[in-house]
Amino acid sequence: MNIAANPHVQADQTVYLKDYQKPSFLVESINLDIQVYDDHTVVESTLVMNRQTAGDLVLLGRDLELKSIVLNGKNLEVGQYQLDHEQLVITHAPDQVILNTQVVIHPESNTQLEGLYKAGGDLFVTQNEPEGFRKITFYPDRPDVLAEFTTRVEADKKFPVLLANGNLLETGTVGENRHFAIWQDPTKKPSYLFACVIGDLAVLKDHYTTSEGREVALEIYAIEKDIPKCHIAMEALKHSMRWDEEHYGRPYDLDNYMIVAVSQFNMGAMENKGLNIFNTSCVLADEEYTTDAAIMRVQSVIAHEYFHNWTGNRITCRDWFQLCLKEGLTVFRDQSFSEDLQSAAVQRIDDVAVLKAHQFPEDAGPLSHPPRPDHFVEINNFYTATVYEKGAEINRMMSTLLGKEKFRQGTDEYFHRYDGQAVTVEDWVNALSAGSGVDLSNFLTWYNQPGTPKLEAKGEYDEQNHVYRLSFKQSLKVHPKYPNLKAVPVPVALALFNAETGEQYTLHCQDLFVNEVQDGVYLFDQDTATIEFSNVTQKPVVSLLRNFSAPVNLDFDYSDDELAFLIEYETNGFNQWQASQTLLERILLKDHAVEPYIKAIKNTLPDLVKKDPLLASRLFDVPTEGYLGSRIDHDYKPEAIQEKRNSVLETLARELGAFWKETYLSLDPSLQNDFSQAMGERALKNIMLSMMARQGDDSVFDLAYTQYSQTKNMSERLGALRVLVWNDAPQAQNALDDFYRRYKDEALSLDQWFMVQAANPNATAETIKALTEHPDYDLGTPNRVRSVSGGLSNNPVNAWSFGVEHYIGLAEYFDEKNPILGSRLLQVLSRWYTLAEPQRGNVQNALKDLQPHVKSKNVKETLNSILSV
Ligand code: ARG
Ligand code: ZN
Repeated sequence: MNIAANPHVQADQTVYLKDYQKPSFLVESINLDIQVYDDHTVVESTLVMNRQTAGDLVLLGRDLELKSIVLNGKNLEVGQYQLDHEQLVITHAPDQVILNTQVVIHPESNTQLEGLYKAGGDLFVTQNEPEGFRKITFYPDRPDVLAEFTTRVEADKKFPVLLANGNLLETGTVGENRHFAIWQDPTKKPSYLFACVIGDLAVLKDHYTTSEGREVALEIYAIEKDIPKCHIAMEALKHSMRWDEEHYGRPYDLDNYMIVAVSQFNMGAMENKGLNIFNTSCVLADEEYTTDAAIMRVQSVIAHEYFHNWTGNRITCRDWFQLCLKEGLTVFRDQSFSEDLQSAAVQRIDDVAVLKAHQFPEDAGPLSHPPRPDHFVEINNFYTATVYEKGAEINRMMSTLLGKEKFRQGTDEYFHRYDGQAVTVEDWVNALSAGSGVDLSNFLTWYNQPGTPKLEAKGEYDEQNHVYRLSFKQSLKVHPKYPNLKAVPVPVALALFNAETGEQYTLHCQDLFVNEVQDGVYLFDQDTATIEFSNVTQKPVVSLLRNFSAPVNLDFDYSDDELAFLIEYETNGFNQWQASQTLLERILLKDHAVEPYIKAIKNTLPDLVKKDPLLASRLFDVPTEGYLGSRIDHDYKPEAIQEKRNSVLETLARELGAFWKETYLSLDPSLQNDFSQAMGERALKNIMLSMMARQGDDSVFDLAYTQYSQTKNMSERLGALRVLVWNDAPQAQNALDDFYRRYKDEALSLDQWFMVQAANPNATAETIKALTEHPDYDLGTPNRVRSVSGGLSNNPVNAWSFGVEHYIGLAEYFDEKNPILGSRLLQVLSRWYTLAEPQRGNVQNALKDLQPHVKSKNVKETLNSILSV
């Protein structure tokens, strides 16, 4: 490998942010000609390039069979360029270059689902982010090279649909059996946003008129029978387009917007310019076939990919270290969109639950990295909860601090400054500061440091002077690779309640962002600080981090009764939930008494169930075994956690007695017109069933079976099936067989059938074996693989015993076949070192045994990191 030619890549394959260099050549335009045949594909490309800085002409390419290369009209012979398995280098290239290459590739046998690949029988699609384009043609495949793309796609007429980015210029036939289409994208874009689709698909059409009066044709492509399941996505798309105009002043910029649903896809979806490609799980939505949670997810992913058009596509990343520039901002935007779609409090609860269940553990273990890392081996390993979710939290903190108006001024400035450019996290924070007039530069620290800060707070009431004092201290765990950790700015949203009356105090405190208000925000940006509230007439209960105003671990010396008080009296739904989670964590992990919690639930939930069923359903959340496990750093015994959690749940089931069944019988989601209300009632019904099962009342199985058979709604059907299967009910096998018969041709529903069985707490190694040997289990479809391995990970007791072999086996199997997937599956084991012996040693040995066998950068990097604790 010619290392000198590309100083960006070091010999040990680690890439460093500090080594960033501008590309020596920019690409003005690229003409692509892609000819798909059954057993190979020919790609011809013509690049018009201009020199920008001194240096070699470096084109990246992987798994390409080079047939010819012509530079400014002259055929290059071997020896006039250097070629290895990563790149093609031409030294002494002239300043203006027209480069034509012809390569042969093999999408029909591409199992990595990266570049151009066959996704099932009648469909070829692309996935080029981050570095897939180099598997299609030789190209400076990096996001700071923006070019105009013209694409000709040619294939057999058995594939009637030929799509690429931009506007359709021309179609025609080639001989008898083949046809072509030529597309041109008027906007310059990096290669990772290139897409094309060749297939036999049906289409749902609609249209949208932008605030500027542009008529946009909207199209969602899917296999014929799935078209009826595309309406919710289409509505969400139109809604997103309006939302971005109203909230960010960003209208759409092309005459068409296409979405293609693909059943074999590594991730959720991809924001290719004007031609999004989606995992079917993130576009198909239908109450009969998919759950309420899946429907909510579809709407948020549709919005996410649409919002990328401005935050990601028109303004893109200078290099992949800046990934969280586009992802963190776009997740923040899609979360805000979803908050407008349903209850804002519940959306926040769900988003924070994901953050705490995935990002916090990631950031506390061997895979911890800053939202903007400063080095990596394989960038695909950095599409993480930290980059996405913690990245979103950083933007949320800045927006909380600025308020709506100033935040909008800041984003306006960002779009104004950088439209059409590839930029950095610094550029974003600078524009936001300049536009809002508030210096936010210390928020850059959040982007550059790993770890979840610990926020310790203490409250002290001065009865004589009616003063309440709050003192704060922040700290971060030492990280070997990031030694110089600094204090970060922590916006603390807070409220004070009168403990006697439950009423909220007006806040009198000079240090708050806005003074004399009920909801205050204090910006804590030192190592320690103390603030004072005056006119506090009685000892207050303070509610901290309202709406989770900062992604920190809060340590406040609440009494259990104060937490119970907040469950009852806090008016912020999120913090009500937060209080119940904190209290439950103490009960479950620190053996605190369960009574204050039960009393608060009894006082709160019966009313809330009627008023706000969706929020009520979340207030019944009991932290999962997985989450509880992630809070333990050593000597972790999954069985002990399981036992404790079950016993608390049984107490709760017993203590609320007839409440469960009475509530169950009183709910009727079919009477609710509002989707959120109905969704809340469905969630509640399923909770009630599972609590009745915990009461040991066998009649629950008849209720569940009736619910299972009579409903047309997937959330109800699946909820009932889960109760039957997980409790080994006599009706369980019947229901499972029936479910299989109903949905054997509906991949997403069938995924749920696999999932329910894999997630059964009583599942054994034999259960998993039977599922993975089932004729419908398919290693070529990541959704199906994840339905079993994701289900299994629901039960840490199982995942850490017979599951270990399952995950290691998959990592080894996918190592080269689909390294992105293999690496992700292995990450499930990243907290092995917290286990108690002998389990700890067993998993460690299994991981070490795998080490000599893995070959891909993806799996290697993950395995090495995991083992490096
Ligand atoms: N940019 C896409 C999104 O967030 C994700 C693409 C990730 N792909 C990958 N191969 N890591 O919407
Ligand atoms: Zn994204």
